[in-house]
Amino acid sequence: MNSSELFERACRRIPGGVNSPVRAFSAVGGDPIYVERGKGARMWTSDGRELTDFCGSWGPLLFGHARDEVVEAVCKAAAGGTSFGINTEREVEFAERICRMAPCMDMVRLVNSGTEATMTALRLARGFTGRRKIIKFDGCYHGHADYLLVSAGSGLLTGGISSSAGVSPAAAAEVLVAPYNDLDAVQRIVARDGAAVAAIIVEPVAGNMGLVPPAGGFLAGLRAAADACGALLVFDEVISGFRLGPTTYGMLCGVKPDLTCLGKIIGGGLPLGAVGGRRDVMCALAPLGKVYQAGTLSGNPVAVAAGLAMLRLIETEQPYAGIAFLTRGLADGLDAAARSRDAAFRCASLGSMFTPFFTAREVTDLATAKTCDTAAHAAFFRGMLARGFYLPPSQFEVGFVSAAHTETDIREFTAAAARVMAAL
Ligand SMILES: Cc1ncc(COP(=O)(O)O)c(C=O)c1O
Repeated sequence: MNSSELFERACRRIPGGVNSPVRAFSAVGGDPIYVERGKGARMWTSDGRELTDFCGSWGPLLFGHARDEVVEAVCKAAAGGTSFGINTEREVEFAERICRMAPCMDMVRLVNSGTEATMTALRLARGFTGRRKIIKFDGCYHGHADYLLVSAGSGLLTGGISSSAGVSPAAAAEVLVAPYNDLDAVQRIVARDGAAVAAIIVEPVAGNMGLVPPAGGFLAGLRAAADACGALLVFDEVISGFRLGPTTYGMLCGVKPDLTCLGKIIGGGLPLGAVGGRRDVMCALAPLGKVYQAGTLSGNPVAVAAGLAMLRLIETEQPYAGIAFLTRGLADGLDAAARSRDAAFRCASLGSMFTPFFTAREVTDLATAKTCDTAAHAAFFRGMLARGFYLPPSQFEVGFVSAAHTETDIREFTAAAARVMAAL
């Protein structure tokens, strides 16, 4: 069955034909693709097409698809039992390894997704501080818990809605929103409501309004603001954790949060998230403390085996400088292609992350992200797909280069991009 036939069939039984909204291609048009398999930097679709993948399952695939070591670890673990709901030695080793690689975490609790990690972090912050309110940033996405869908990015931006129906006004009222990179706005909120604030949650490198790195001093300023009002600082590193170096971005930039949320890469492509941080805060979690959190499949043996294989690969191969070099080449190539046709365009990049922004403005927050020409982005996406390159199907997402990509992949990508841009 080809992708359009599959999509038609899916729409009868799955809302919108997809199990996560951005997969529906609503922002870029055309039928969504169906994938049969992937290996390295390539995916093969149900239509028999070969695509070079620059979306990488939205972030987990630092080494590309079906890396042998990860596949072997998963198969071996699955053969020994897929779930026990009982503790395993592997979980202990995994927690020890995470805390060793990212010593901003004294302890870590494993969950099943990034959403669960941020939900847990914020309940924990509330339980620990005895306060209710949360400060978050416009355009940052932290998963789909009720109060975190206020002014959230990516999928919600793509759908043209800044929040979701069904979020209780009481939950939304607990959330105070500031523009990303705007420390003055945070300080104003803290001056007014600081005594009620349990946590400031931020993507230390924002990836859900496209790639927006933190301005100099922004994260250190948040640390100071949290300290000033007695709130916890929570770094949502579901994308940035182990993406920009063999640790968290907090460790790389020297700003220590109280709690860190992880997902994506630490699961090696399987459903796994984690929240970790200060020992005194983590000890407030049940069964030690009064903040309840649980999960039938938490610490799942197969997911943890994949995560361990991933972290071992990171330590042995240290892929970061190589991928960053490829990504810089990709971004420079896109910028050069845009310059030759005088287009309003800038490719943002950091490490192995990039976003081709169709605007002349430097994107530093949601307001500047919204200056993008989303129709031009959609046409670019479709043109690249037609030439065999898969990008995230939204202007407000991040593309990823993996250790499986080669200089030839980047050369072919930028050459195709030049042709697509010339035809826009
Ligand atoms: C920064 C950030 N936090 C949290 C999440 C939610 O993670 P998950 O989709 O695994 O629930 C995402 C998902 O993309 C994310 O980008």
